[in-house]
Amino acid sequence: MKILFLNGPNLNLLGQREPEVYGKMTLADIETDVRKLAKQLKVSVDFRQSNLEGELVGWIQDAKGKFDVIVINAAAYTHTSIALRDAIAAIGVPTIEIHLSNVHAREKFRHKSLIAPVCCGQITGFGAKSYLLGLQAAVDVKVAKK
Ligand code: DQA
Repeated sequence: MKILFLNGPNLNLLGQREPEVYGKMTLADIETDVRKLAKQLKVSVDFRQSNLEGELVGWIQDAKGKFDVIVINAAAYTHTSIALRDAIAAIGVPTIEIHLSNVHAREKFRHKSLIAPVCCGQITGFGAKSYLLGLQAAVDVKVAKK
């Protein structure tokens, strides 16, 4: 089973970026934890980050036929990007939306996710653990579809 983790803008700054909101772990720390759990679950993981909407759209398009599930923290593009939503809807690869912070407990503009309606579900507010829960959900989604 192959799972693609995608990370949107500013997540490369984790660790130094508003640590009171996003925690002290860097994205590399989170990737290490994800890879450890992936090994235990015997699944393979590709882990990417981009600040560019178009690059994320390209990666989603390319995932068709190559990955079983996508786990995405689209960061600010969650709330703005029709292009990401359309890409997810277009390829038909089951996709799980994750966030470190609880977007529903924050500013109003973060309450709306444009990608949520085309995702299997949303995991939000568990800090770095949202990534591990996302991985577990990805495996469950794939197993349920078999
Ligand atoms: C975020 C929440 C978004 O609202 C924000 O723009 C981010 C990170 C999170 O993981 O909590 O960049 O996706």
